[in-house]
Amino acid sequence: MPLKATAIAHPNIAFIKYWGNRDDALRLPLNGSISMNLSGMETQTTVHFDDQLDHDLFELNGEPQTNAALERVSHFLNQVRLLAKLNTHARVSSANNFPTGAGIASSASAFAALALAASKAAGLELSQIDLSRLARLGSGSACRSIPDGFVEWLAGEGDASSYAVSIAPKNHWDLVDVIAVISQTHKPVGSTSGHKLAHTSHLNALRVMDAPDRLKACREALLGRDFDRFADVVELDSNYMHAVMRTSTPPLSYWEPATEVILWHVWQWRKHGRAVCATVDAGPNVHVLALKHELAWLQEVLLDLPGVNKILVGEPADGARLIEQA
Ligand code: DP6
Repeated sequence: MPLKATAIAHPNIAFIKYWGNRDDALRLPLNGSISMNLSGMETQTTVHFDDQLDHDLFELNGEPQTNAALERVSHFLNQVRLLAKLNTHARVSSANNFPTGAGIASSASAFAALALAASKAAGLELSQIDLSRLARLGSGSACRSIPDGFVEWLAGEGDASSYAVSIAPKNHWDLVDVIAVISQTHKPVGSTSGHKLAHTSHLNALRVMDAPDRLKACREALLGRDFDRFADVVELDSNYMHAVMRTSTPPLSYWEPATEVILWHVWQWRKHGRAVCATVDAGPNVHVLALKHELAWLQEVLLDLPGVNKILVGEPADGARLIEQA
């Protein structure tokens, strides 16, 4: 039985967002979501089950992790041990090549890479659907970093039917995600706590009720490469989620003044005919989605805006992949 495996996964950007769960422990979402995996950014994770260990060890970017970060990984490994009927503890070593916890979904690439590396190291041969379900237990958005390219997470009825599938390969559409990074610090309220607040906003029921229509519009626009229709629904969905966040108890706002300034400019550029639109996750950074021919111009104008520290560019990418098994 292999005891050690290394996997790589990319983060993803949601066009239709996951916000709020029907079941927090199983991460069964209130609504389905659609995303694109992002090339260039990745998490690489090695898992080694070692019977010499009396507890799990987790190192992130070379730093040993304790408390909540270690507990979350250990809790996840328990699910893998249960599936594989294994009692051994593991040494987990993970590295991101992009800023952790700043609105670029590091938990998505982290738990997608961990799900693949840990399941292979434990000797499991999971189907892509079962791997996506497993990754979902670590972080909801991680289930979308398992399949290739453009991906839809089907909300499902329960644990068995809530997983992500590829709806188009990475070369289907030359979209780019140009991330205007305005903060690299850790966010004050993590997504896991944020999801629990969604129910406290009266707007959330409306957001969820309308989600099937937005999913349909997004899927059709994406498959038909209709940028205008895509841009309308992506911005509507992001605004819905942030309206829910701001009207939760206690209210939640991830935006900084620079976030507003960038959004205002993106909306102006679009009005003037540029193929750009914007979406914001649980952090202050703005993800500017654009057709690739806008890339050089877009990087230049974004870097000129106040508060923009740097730009990261993600193109459509494949899902999680195994790079080593021993
Ligand atoms: C705003 O997947 O990070 O990025 O399941 O608690 O780990 P957990 O939450 P997470 O939530 C992502 C929220 C979002 C929207 C999205 O990616 O769909």
